[in-house]
Amino acid sequence: SQEGPLAGRKILVTAGGTLEYIDPVRFIGNRSSGKMGLAIAKAALMMGANVTLIAGTMSVPVPENSRLQTIRVRTTEEMLEQVDQQFADCDALVMAAAIADFKPQQMADEKIKKHAGENTWTLHLSTTPDILKRMGEKKQSQLVIGFAAETQDLLTNAQHKLASKHADMIVANDVAKAGSGFGVDTNQVTILQPHQEPDAWPLLSKDAVAQRLMRLVVKELSK
Ligand code: PMT
Repeated sequence: SQEGPLAGRKILVTAGGTLEYIDPVRFIGNRSSGKMGLAIAKAALMMGANVTLIAGTMSVPVPENSRLQTIRVRTTEEMLEQVDQQFADCDALVMAAAIADFKPQQMADEKIKKHAGENTWTLHLSTTPDILKRMGEKKQSQLVIGFAAETQDLLTNAQHKLASKHADMIVANDVAKAGSGFGVDTNQVTILQPHQEPDAWPLLSKDAVAQRLMRLVVKELSK
């Protein structure tokens, strides 16, 4: 049987970005490469876990592994449906995906046309479901970990997300800092947990961030 501190555990990870369709050929998306989420999946595999990776738009390939189940999704609604199905029997959920907060109120059935003489066009948006918050509200014994991508007031905003989304941990990510956040191979994060002082980690490779994070998961799951 499998060895490692996470052997027999199921770790559910989201990675990449979600996209929201404007019409059949256009969408709203974001710059997530999926590197951070994939690094977490790999770190969990190395520690012996069974991993389910819910992957949105990714610019990196996902390797094959007998203990890795990869589910591809595009929209936030699709990601919600898959996370919801996989959540009940997981030990920890780690949401590294960059999820759209807004989607077009209606997706046009046909490609939207440009009209002569019109120089502006208004797209109406509505909010998407907050997946992390929903899982935070329905968790039983699962460890629920979210990320917070911020360009300002990092700790204040991340602390707010920790509480409002009922998360057990938030990985606060200053995405405006050089070498940190979207697309790059490194990341600088601060770990927030309820009733604990923020723990700022140095700039590390995403693989190293993922390994440290999984060691924290091992510690929390053994409590
Ligand atoms: O993919 P990479 O290129 O490697 O980049 C990594 C990353 C920058 C995307 C990653 O480190 C990161 O910060 N991911 C979270 C991005 C994000 O959407 O953050 P947020 O602060 O908007 O959301 C907070 C948390 O709620 C996140 O865990 C997010 O997955 C979740 N969320 C957000 C909106 C929504 N509708 N539902 C959610 O579940």
